[in-house]
Parts: sequence; structure tokens; C-alpha cells
Amino acid sequence: AMAAERGLAMATCTAPVNIAVIKYWGKRDTDLILPINSSLSVTLHQDQLKTTTTAAASRDFTEDRLWLNGKEADVGHPRVQACLREVRRLARKRRGGGEDTAALSLSYKIHIASENNFPTAAGLASSAAGYACLVSALARLYGLEEELSEVARRGSGSACRSMFGGFVQWQRGERPDGTDSLALQVAPETHWPELRVLVLVVRGWQGIWVGFGTRGAQEGPCPTHRAEVVVPERLAQMMRHIRDRDFEGFGQLAMRDSNQFHATCLDTFPPIFYLTDLSRHIIALAHRYNAHHGHTKVAYTFDAGPNAVIFALADTVAEFVEVVRRSFPPATNGDQFVRGLPVGSAALSPELAAAVVTEPVPGAVQYILHTKPGPGPQLVDDPSQHLLGADGLP
Ligand code: DP6
Repeated sequence: AMAAERGLAMATCTAPVNIAVIKYWGKRDTDLILPINSSLSVTLHQDQLKTTTTAAASRDFTEDRLWLNGKEADVGHPRVQACLREVRRLARKRRGGGEDTAALSLSYKIHIASENNFPTAAGLASSAAGYACLVSALARLYGLEEELSEVARRGSGSACRSMFGGFVQWQRGERPDGTDSLALQVAPETHWPELRVLVLVVRGWQGIWVGFGTRGAQEGPCPTHRAEVVVPERLAQMMRHIRDRDFEGFGQLAMRDSNQFHATCLDTFPPIFYLTDLSRHIIALAHRYNAHHGHTKVAYTFDAGPNAVIFALADTVAEFVEVVRRSFPPATNGDQFVRGLPVGSAALSPELAAAVVTEPVPGAVQYILHTKPGPGPQLVDDPSQHLLGADGLP
């Protein structure tokens, strides 16, 4: 990494959001963030959703500092510290444990600035992209080239999957120290060119988590059964559906696994609720749409929030977007309703409209983001894109 005059070095990376189709839920070690089951996700394209992070080190910095979306944040956050410590440990190991002979001293304090190209409050999974990006930028800064999903995992479990593009598996691993709890690419983003993703951003949700239970709450029989019995089988099935580009199988299983994850949340004690009436409305809409067509044309999945993520093939997008527009007529406040990749126009047949568009809820969906599978973290070469100036400040 660009060591330089005055001992200032800087590196900038971008990293993607991912959406799980076999969900990660439940930890066997909350400190190391080791999951009770393996999971599988699709990495979303950074043209629509990405985090950008600049990491800088200088002998002139007097303390570690962190800025998130322009505001100074707590660099002492244990998960940020875990990532920093692990990257520095790997860098030290690489340098053979000797004193700092390399250009960049490991004792220098660092400044980190990170921002999202999407509204954080929209409740889109930003911690995965955030930690994947932090680790990528730090790794560049220190010139690391090794596998880093294990480090990103220490920030947020799902972040380890954002270290790769396309279709990614996080293997739960067996070892208590977590050295085999890693992400692996199952297929690159080019594998399934017709696959599209629609993120339905619901209105009025502030990105706060809604529920009673806390993460790591005492778990019931559902989580255990899911991890031990259901997921191993589903993971193998999902890998086959992806390999065969079988949308029927992929979509069915993605919906079932989302539903089971939310059932599992209900079976933790105290229970956790992520789905809202609106999420349930979208679920019912997707099922009516598929029933009308007689097969799986769209598949929903929900993470720890009420926004819906819909998978569909490219030739279904225009029609389904029209169904969503008719079902949740946008408020005419100038918001752009469809964002991201272009969406063609489609007319709904009266039969389809009658069967699928029941009880419209005006304004409930704020906008639809159209995207597709994309690559893993990227290095930003252009120095004008750094989020920190030559003074090391945003
Ligand atoms: C519901 O990665 O946010 O999105 O490891 O505690 O940071 P921590 O949890 P996090 O878990 C989110 C899980 C999920 C499903 C998934 O992405 O697999």
C-alpha cells in the first residue's frame, strides 16, 4: 500500500451488500462470531448498493478515529476493534514478527472513513458491507493478500460473505477457534446472467430493530432443529439449484428458508419479530402472483427488518414492478419509485390485475431498487475518491 512522504499511507476499497438465501441465525460463540449453521448468499451489485471505506495510517495521528457517513463514531466499538486487531496481527505475522521494517509502521494510529451509497436508515443490510469494506481497506493499507473472510466475520457474521462476489457460502466450521469458519465463492456473479433482485424499501421504517428479544437470547427447539437438521439438507439443495440455474427450485427454497428463519426468531425466548403487516402483505402478493402464473416467478426473502428482497428472472421484472406499483401506489411527492437498473414498462392483463392486485396500500413501499448479483470488494485506484484528505481528515 501506498507508503508515502510524511509517513502517510492511504487505501480505499468498496464492498457489497449480500442477501442470504439460506439464513445465518444463531451463534455457538458470540465473541468469535461462530454460527450454529452454514449459510449461503447472493452478493448484490455495487453499482446500486455499496460501502466505500478509506483507511489511513500516519505517524502524525495521535489516536485511532472513525467516521461513518461523515460523522465521527466510536472507534472503540468491540467489533471494530476485533477487525483492527486481527488485521494488525496478520500484518505482523507476515512481517515475520520482527520490528517494523516495512514502509508502514504497525504502531501508527489509523483514521477510517466509511460511507454508503444508499440511505443507512432504509434498513438495508449495511453492517455486512461495512465490515467487509473496513477489512478490505485495512488489508490494502497493510499490504495483506490472504483470505480475510475470517477477519470480516469478527465484525459481523454476514460480513464474511461480502468478501466475495456472486454466490457465496459461509461454512460454519468445526474448530472452536473459528479458523475454519470461512466464506467461499460457490459461483461467480456471471454464473446466472438473468437473475435480478428487487429491493422493496418500505416506508417509515427507521432502521431500528423492532421486537422484544435480544440477539443471543435463549433459544428454543426450532433454532436447534433448524441448524442441525434442516440447514445441512437445504444447503446442498440450494447449491444444486444455483448450479443448474433452476429458478423454480431456488425461489421456492429461498422463500421457505426466509419463512423458517422468521419462525425461528419467534421461537427464541423472548421472541423476536422482524416481519411487519406490510412484509406479510408483500409475501401474500408474491404467492398470488406465482399462483396466477402457475409457477415460481418471484421469490421473497427478508432479513432482520421489514424490507423485502425479491428474486426474479429478467423477463419477469417489468411485470412484477407494475404489480408492486399498483399494489402500493406511490405517493406523488417526487420520489423516484423505481431506482437502479432500468425497468421496462409492462401492462397488466385484467385477469392478472384482478387476481393479484387486491387491497392496494398507497405509499407503503417507498421505492424499488432494481439490481443484480455483483462482484466482491474492489480497490479504488483513483486518489480523488479517497474519503480522507491529505491531512487525514474527512
Ligand atoms: C438475518 O450478520 O447482522 O441477515 O453476526 O451478530 O452481526 P451478527 O449478525 P448479522 O446477522 C444477520 C443475519 C441475517 C441472515 C443472514 O444474513 O444470513
